[in-house]
Amino acid sequence: MSKRRVHFASDHAAVELRQALIACAQEAGFEVVDHGPMNAESVDYPDQAQFVADALRAESQALAVLVCGTGIGMSMVANRYQHLRAAAVSDVFSAAATRAHNNANVLCMGARTLGVGLACEILTTFLSTEFEGGRHQRRVDKFPTGSM
Ligand code: RB5
Repeated sequence: MSKRRVHFASDHAAVELRQALIACAQEAGFEVVDHGPMNAESVDYPDQAQFVADALRAESQALAVLVCGTGIGMSMVANRYQHLRAAAVSDVFSAAATRAHNNANVLCMGARTLGVGLACEILTTFLSTEFEGGRHQRRVDKFPTGSM
């Protein structure tokens, strides 16, 4: 399978980690789109997540990375969008599992909880793992849509 485009956005808490992760993805051969921010002035993570939501609405095969202080706020926001399946991840096993089993298309990580080395390993694992489909597709198809 050809390598997918990867969209990146963060809030002010994670500018440096986002930049390091972009370099990490490029080194692994992925094409990257950076949605900023370009400096550490305060921005609100829901606004940053919206850039990625818009990008993946137009490019359904793309993947995305959202980084904030913990990765949690970004994942909460991202999962409000029906076309996004976001996972806040802090270990390599979960990075592979959430692609293989949940068909996650957005990886969320925390700049205040992860070092660059581990975050890069999580990222490359996420990007290089394919969804297994089959029984996992059936389960993903059961994700609720709209309000419950
Ligand atoms: C910003 O201070 C912080 O709240 C944000 O980066 C994130 O951790 C939210 O989940």
